[in-house]
Amino acid sequence: MLIKGETVLQGEVTISSSKNAILPILAACLLTEDEVRIEKVPDINDVIIITEILKELGVVIEHGRNSLTLCSKLVSTQPPYELVRQIRASVLLMGPILARRGQVRIALPGGCAIGTRPIDLHLKGLQALGVDICLQSGDLVAKANRLTGNHVYLDYPSVGATENIMMAAATAQGISYIENAALEPEVVDLANFINQMGGKIYGAGTNVIKIIGVRELHGTEYSPIPDRIEAGTYMTAVAATGGAALIKNVLPDHLKAITAKLIESGADVIEGKNSLQVSRTGKIKPVYIKTLPYPGFPTDMQAQFMAYLSCGQGSSIISESVFENRYMHVQELSRMGADIQTEGKTAIIKGVKNLSGAQVKAPDLRAGAALVIAGLTAQGDTTLLESEHVKRGYENIAEKFIAMGACIENI
Ligand code: EPZ
Repeated sequence: MLIKGETVLQGEVTISSSKNAILPILAACLLTEDEVRIEKVPDINDVIIITEILKELGVVIEHGRNSLTLCSKLVSTQPPYELVRQIRASVLLMGPILARRGQVRIALPGGCAIGTRPIDLHLKGLQALGVDICLQSGDLVAKANRLTGNHVYLDYPSVGATENIMMAAATAQGISYIENAALEPEVVDLANFINQMGGKIYGAGTNVIKIIGVRELHGTEYSPIPDRIEAGTYMTAVAATGGAALIKNVLPDHLKAITAKLIESGADVIEGKNSLQVSRTGKIKPVYIKTLPYPGFPTDMQAQFMAYLSCGQGSSIISESVFENRYMHVQELSRMGADIQTEGKTAIIKGVKNLSGAQVKAPDLRAGAALVIAGLTAQGDTTLLESEHVKRGYENIAEKFIAMGACIENI
């Protein structure tokens, strides 16, 4: 991706549906053999991969213009390794396949650029529901005669573990409670989706979720929530370039932490019902950011904010408390002239006058987005290698930025 520098973003951008909502929702389609229709499906690689896995499991999928109609009459129990290894979210297939077929064999997900990404909390939760799990030549082999409701306490409010357990419990025998559950909006969206299929899930969005197992779930139509991280990325990009733009199709409540930090740093954010007007004219003031589970500042926005703060006044401090290695973007930003020191989970960003365009590499999805932001503000052109990482989670990112005045070429 070739990005021209010294851009001032203006105009407006419309946010797509949430990647981190639609991935568990697509997995949850396995919970019924009825037809399910998902609308407003974003054209992103992660959705393509997960739908390929579902097809390999026997799910019949009809592609509309931006909708998917899924029919999970048959569900095989062995998602293919070649596809599973490409997307960590495939671990979310465990719960639904166990609920439908009582068994599943799936590759243990490897780590990724941002950390080892263990799934111990997923497995602990499934075991509490009566699943026997063992590791056989790199695969998790799980079996359950009958999923039965139980209390699950999560040592950490893991988003994926909460979602996996919720899906397995939806048609289990009896009542389940997930305590210290994740509060993320994407967890709430999944619960709403399952309830629309006839599920009985209460308390999603609080730290105790109650799931009354039902005999079966029926088909439905559903549109996932807008992507709060995509929205935060564009908000931060507009502020970083000193522009002014309208971010459309957002739920402002999901963006409170990002809005607060942008305002604290000297940007202006005006909330509409389903939109945010973002602008910045003054200097970027230094801020302290600690990433936390929702509703704290999202870890998925840490890299983008670091790019923004790179040209701030004074020094900003970021503490990454969610993942153990989510500073892969630091060395790339440094190649562009940023002055960032990291010490364990803490990064100190000493503001510089401007960044300079360079050839950089996207180590992962959000770091790639951070480098796009840096490229837009830098002096000179930036070539972003491995930009396919960015396309995993951002629908039409080049087109959306170009419509706001950027000069970006997909090379
Ligand atoms: C989800 O990942 C998101 N992915 C991530 O977004 C996001 O960064 C993360 O939640 C935190 O908000 C999807 O929703 C598809 P976690 P997930 O389980 O579920 C530890 C992006 O860029 N942990 O809440 O994997 C884990 O190591 C992606 O869109 C365990 O120790 O996140 C991490 O330190 C990146 N054991 C912390 O919890 C477990 O069993 C948060 O992980 C599970 C997690």
